[in-house]
Amino acid sequence: MSKQDDDLITAVTNAIKQSKKYGDTSEATIRQLAEEAARQHKKPKAAIKAVRARLHSIMAPYLGDPDYKAMARQLNEAFAANDQERINQLCLASLDAHLSTRERLPIMADFYRQIFAVTGQPSAILDIACALNPLALRWMYPVNGERLKFYAYDIHEPRIDFINHYFRLEGLEPLARVQDVAMQFPQEQADVALFLKEMPRFTRNYGDLGRPLLQSLNVRWLVISYPSISTHGGRNLTSRYRDFMHQLIAGLNWPITELLFEGELVFIIEKITP
Ligand SMILES: C[S@@+](CC[C@H](N)C(=O)[O-])C[C@H]1O[C@@H](n2cnc3c(N)ncnc32)[C@H](O)[C@@H]1O
Repeated sequence: MSKQDDDLITAVTNAIKQSKKYGDTSEATIRQLAEEAARQHKKPKAAIKAVRARLHSIMAPYLGDPDYKAMARQLNEAFAANDQERINQLCLASLDAHLSTRERLPIMADFYRQIFAVTGQPSAILDIACALNPLALRWMYPVNGERLKFYAYDIHEPRIDFINHYFRLEGLEPLARVQDVAMQFPQEQADVALFLKEMPRFTRNYGDLGRPLLQSLNVRWLVISYPSISTHGGRNLTSRYRDFMHQLIAGLNWPITELLFEGELVFIIEKITP
């Protein structure tokens, strides 16, 4: 790489890292996108614009965030007072602040009950591209209490800090990490990997990477979900995503169980049969 390219990549990375909208994104992700943009654009302004367009699709900031600092403070107080009802309320408020988990709230307890009825009670979970979903821990009944290893991956730094803060308060290890799963597939071993409502966007952002990602995961069960209704326009997406899912793992001989909830279509795939 020429010195000029290197300077351009650094300038673009710094500009995005300092921006209000995308500054919370992992620097490794921004740099990777800046490298890709620098292959097509030689002027910083055009390269920055290209990276911001990719980040709009990858980070989906329009899905929403809670006020992480205020929420962490309120959780501290609720845990210090051992006020279980208040803790539950604050978890629900956090989940309500992001569209993906907000849509799941009405079915949440039933959702995990039915999934774990198929997979068995996990003692280790991977939550890939998790957003705020780890805050649903208390509705993932029955989880393995404090012995649970809950690995969560996202590229939004305050979100991951907040999840680890919450895990510590719950007595769990802080196993959430800032990791770009398109650049580095998760390596950890677990019973169940959750990849919820992100595969269509992942495919749009990274092309054919979904299948090798699923193949590489060190888990017995994959739980992959899709919205069953489009956010805009309310179109039914069930049959389109069912076909998509089956194509994605065609030829791999992985048994699939399908669960259809109000608003979410779930596939439970057994990668390793005992
Ligand atoms: C639609 S939200 C996920 C919702 C969550 N799985 C759920 O269903 O509740 C997408 C999340 O994926 C994260 N993300 C997108 N691309 C990623 C990548 N390459 N590596 C890690 N996280 C990623 C975004 O930061 C965002 O938090």
